Amino acid sequence: MKVLLLNGSPRKEGCTFTALTEVAASLQEQGIETEIFQAGNADTENVKAAAEKLKSADALVVGSPVYWASPTGQIIEFMDKLCSLAGKDMLYKPAAAVTSARRAGTTATLDVLMKYFLFYQMPVVSSNYWAMVHGNTPEEVKRDAEGLQIMHVLGNNMAWMLKCLEAGKNAGVELPKTEEKIKTNFIR
Ligand SMILES: Cc1cc2nc3c(=O)[nH]c(=O)nc-3n(C[C@H](O)[C@H](O)[C@H](O)COP(=O)(O)O)c2cc1C
Repeated sequence: MKVLLLNGSPRKEGCTFTALTEVAASLQEQGIETEIFQAGNADTENVKAAAEKLKSADALVVGSPVYWASPTGQIIEFMDKLCSLAGKDMLYKPAAAVTSARRAGTTATLDVLMKYFLFYQMPVVSSNYWAMVHGNTPEEVKRDAEGLQIMHVLGNNMAWMLKCLEAGKNAGVELPKTEEKIKTNFIR
């Protein structure tokens, strides 16, 4: 089993990366493969590369720093494009959002990221608090013991969900039937 983790910061190895690394470490402890993908650049070729990796991934984690009390413009553009290109490969896969901030805007950021998962029928994985770390540098994030625990618990919870889904599949539980989408645009 494999989890794809998107880092929506333009800083490759900053605070969001540090948080994602912690999630990845606990997934790996549970025998699950991980890959952190640099998604802080929403060029179409980069999004296509992630879309390719998403095909074989069993779950998705999207991380973003807080910029102006929201996710970065880069990850919003990235996710908008990824959904158009590869939304079908997101269907029914467990997902989680994580964020990093100096101080404020974390829950608003998580709300925005969550919208992608809720559209694609992805079971959302949670932790023992809303999934955030605090700091302006990786060193500061590493001193946020509560934040690191939240990431660690998130990884364990995702591993548990993946194993439950695998067990269900092996026992013959099928994916829900896909229904033809009804679009009324509020007009009857
Ligand atoms: C353009 C910009 C806007 C930011 N806006 C906020 C903000 O609204 N609230 C906050 O707490 N931190 C804000 N920050 C700080 C970052 O969220 C914080 O340093 C984060 O941990 C950086 O993560 P990264 O190293 O993965 O990029 C902002 C930083 C930048 C560069």
